Amino acid sequence: MKNFNLSVVFLLFLGLSGLQAQERIPQVEALLEKMTLEEKIGQLNLLTPGGGIATGSVVSEDVEAKIKAGNVGGVFGVSSPERVRQAQELAVKNSRLGIPLLIGSDVIHGYKTTFPIPLGLSSSWDMELIKETAKVAAKEATADGINWNFSPMVDISRDPRWGRVAEGAGEDAYLGSQIARAMVQGYQQDDLTEPHTMMATVKHLALYGAPEGGRDYNRVDMSRTKMFNEYLPPYKAAVDAGVGSVMTSFNDIDGVPATGNKWLLTDLLRERWGFDGFVVSDYTSVNEMIAHGMGDLQDVSAMALKAGLDMDMVGEGFLTTLKKSVEEGRVSEEEITTAARRILEAKHKLGLLDDPYKYSDASRPEKDILTEENRQLARRAATQSFVFLKDHNNILPVSKRAKIALIGPLANDQSNMLGTWAPTGDFKLSVPVLEGFKNVAPNAQITYAKGANITNDSVFAKKVNVFGPKVEISDRSPDELLQEALRVAKASDVVIAVVGEASEMSGEAASRTNIQIPESQKRLIRELVATGKPVALVLMSGRPLDISEEMELPVSILQAWHPGVEAGNAIADVVFGDVNPSGKLTMSWPRNVGQIPVYYGSRITGRPAPTEEFQKFKTNYLDVPNSPLLPFGHGLSYTTFQYSKIKAHSETLRPGDSLMISTTVTNTGERAGQEVVQLYIHDKVRSLTPPKKQLIAFEKIVLQPGESKTVKFSVTVEDLKFYNGQLEYVAEPGEFEFFVGGTSDCEMQGSFTLLE
Ligand code: BGC
Repeated sequence: MKNFNLSVVFLLFLGLSGLQAQERIPQVEALLEKMTLEEKIGQLNLLTPGGGIATGSVVSEDVEAKIKAGNVGGVFGVSSPERVRQAQELAVKNSRLGIPLLIGSDVIHGYKTTFPIPLGLSSSWDMELIKETAKVAAKEATADGINWNFSPMVDISRDPRWGRVAEGAGEDAYLGSQIARAMVQGYQQDDLTEPHTMMATVKHLALYGAPEGGRDYNRVDMSRTKMFNEYLPPYKAAVDAGVGSVMTSFNDIDGVPATGNKWLLTDLLRERWGFDGFVVSDYTSVNEMIAHGMGDLQDVSAMALKAGLDMDMVGEGFLTTLKKSVEEGRVSEEEITTAARRILEAKHKLGLLDDPYKYSDASRPEKDILTEENRQLARRAATQSFVFLKDHNNILPVSKRAKIALIGPLANDQSNMLGTWAPTGDFKLSVPVLEGFKNVAPNAQITYAKGANITNDSVFAKKVNVFGPKVEISDRSPDELLQEALRVAKASDVVIAVVGEASEMSGEAASRTNIQIPESQKRLIRELVATGKPVALVLMSGRPLDISEEMELPVSILQAWHPGVEAGNAIADVVFGDVNPSGKLTMSWPRNVGQIPVYYGSRITGRPAPTEEFQKFKTNYLDVPNSPLLPFGHGLSYTTFQYSKIKAHSETLRPGDSLMISTTVTNTGERAGQEVVQLYIHDKVRSLTPPKKQLIAFEKIVLQPGESKTVKFSVTVEDLKFYNGQLEYVAEPGEFEFFVGGTSDCEMQGSFTLLE
């Protein structure tokens, strides 16, 4: 009893003195002892000299002088061993205490070897592959001097109008959590001091993917139970996986901007989740709290620090106002020491305090970056990300001896292949589709025609072209382009049309209210189909599109996202059948924008619509069914799979035990293929309205023609838990239905009961 009291008192002491109940690092404490208030504040400042993509209106000035003065804790937009060495020398040789810098970067989907956009990668449902891409990204980025990455982005989103869905893993909290963990593990591995690993940042805490109207940076308003059950799990999964830092989001939560939200950054992140790394703001998001209506720069900087923010990205509100706030008694030196400690601890974890130049090995870029092996991984990752949305008469795969009309504004394009948020990549290194076709099918007769502009709307094109020309409107008229394409199509055996979005039509500040393929290309598609030739669409986009019209046409459709540096080769691998597509959607595709948000895990209402037919006084629309055009988990293959013997091995599950649910999957076609076997549950009675279905497990398997495999899922009480009205994580006893299949649109197979 006495011991117990003592430890409570000790913990209370730690809590009261603003300290974390975690081990202190002597090297860090010794530094803190020596630091002046100004030097501590200096550590909280993250600047960019503007080498990368500036996503706000400010780029830092006088960065060199500020580093020398000890006013900078980290920089981003600086790369290459030489430049990073120079930056470190400025800090180490010139500032009073010689504390090295964090060198950050947005390595979102690969460094120089660009992998598919994250939404594409998520469609692989292959955690080992995703981890491997993150590991390679870390190896390349660290070879170029980077030690801290602003990824993974794990914002759940059910709104394809929002352009940044391209950067995330889709709509589902369970799958999103698996991917968050895989990426953190890939970037950080087991040992951050190892020079091939870099510190990861989970972003954007929190709920950034749920802006009103799908408009980027817009407000978010959400109940706590929805947050906890449907949006927060991936951030928590990253924290549980040991992520080194967390980035706040631009939006507000409960009316308080995330960057200054104490409930979010301290009560939830630190106290409830036990996060012990550091928190960085998003680009000038401290300053943006002024526009949010939170006061002037001094007010918002103090508010952010007190909420639990440790590092201020680009805005310099911390640098310019915190000292004054200490003098005026608005923040304590203790609070600043706590934040500085967290930054120094990160530097310690990376081994920078012992060796500031460990990421400045000039021999590494040559050995580690864009190697043949890395490009092979990019090619494989891309093939695994493609989703075969629709089959028509086995138009795909195409024979390598066919006479092919390769048509479309993205068919011989290089500038859009990497996708959005690939600032470290070089689009000139990417393989256009035409080149990939020639590489993979040298004996095919391939004729290319552009056929259409990505869009004919020059005002829209200008907005998309902020980072350089992505949409180029031809000097030739739309009719000339079309007629040429039709001539080529008519002279061919098969038409492959590569169409869709330019890379910057999705991504940051790229929200759309019309998510169809642009009209210029829709017209091309209609006219190609009218030739009577077999037509397959290879569709590129950074988001789910409304392809209701194209789904009705007699075409096959392969969704290729923006595939990365090996785009053309990977598309050719799948179009010609060397690789059988196996991706599954991680976001539902709507029938029209009016259906948004449409997602598989919605709640059952008091007036459910029993069928797709309209019924008065049921929850449905007059004009479209409730179901999406293409559901979460959907994706076809060149072969077919049959599910049989689906069963639960017991009718009951006792807490502490496990229950097996199994199924046999058979490849009933003539090609080897991969299938993502998915297990969903539905909690029949619980204290909060349950989702219709909830993914709790999946497994990706490979099957040879005729081969069968039994997939076994072991279900425990942990898989049945949810956050109740008191935000306790519980499983409530009672009946659970289960569903097994290769899409979320799979049938109920039976039920089991969770006992008390
Ligand atoms: C984005 C972040 C990014 C940061 C730094 C911001 O605009 O929201 O995701 O990490 O810029 O480039």
